[in-house]
Amino acid sequence: MDRSIKRKKSITGVLGVIILSMLLAFLVSCAGNTPIKQQPGAQLWGDNCIRCHNIRPPANLTDEQWEVAVMHMRTRANLTALEAERIVEFLKASN
Ligand code: HEC
Repeated sequence: MDRSIKRKKSITGVLGVIILSMLLAFLVSCAGNTPIKQQPGAQLWGDNCIRCHNIRPPANLTDEQWEVAVMHMRTRANLTALEAERIVEFLKASN
């Protein structure tokens, strides 16, 4: 009887460790994703959008205006769809 109680406890302990480490892995992957996704937008913006004119600060335009502006500037700056999307994402998050 003693033994069966012990086994039950250790199974619960193992399950607890597995669930906790899955939760931790999930949280770490979330925390790691945000900066990676945002940084390239800011970087691309700084690298590309200053080549022809002074940089337009994010606060200059609304989300909708940035979508239109970057759509036009995308062809001028020769950006890929993904690069343009990242720049728009950054501008919308910073205005
Ligand atoms: C190849 C040159 C070039 C690059 C690169 C460029 N622009 Fe421009 N941009 C222009 C020119 C020329 C104008 C002014 C003429 C016009 O508005 O069509 C302009 C105007 C603008 C305006 C003002 C529009 C308005 O109506 O006042 C904004 C905002 C802008 N650019 C944002 C950007 C952003 C953001 C990027 C980076 C994705 C960028 N530009 C990259 C050439 C460029």
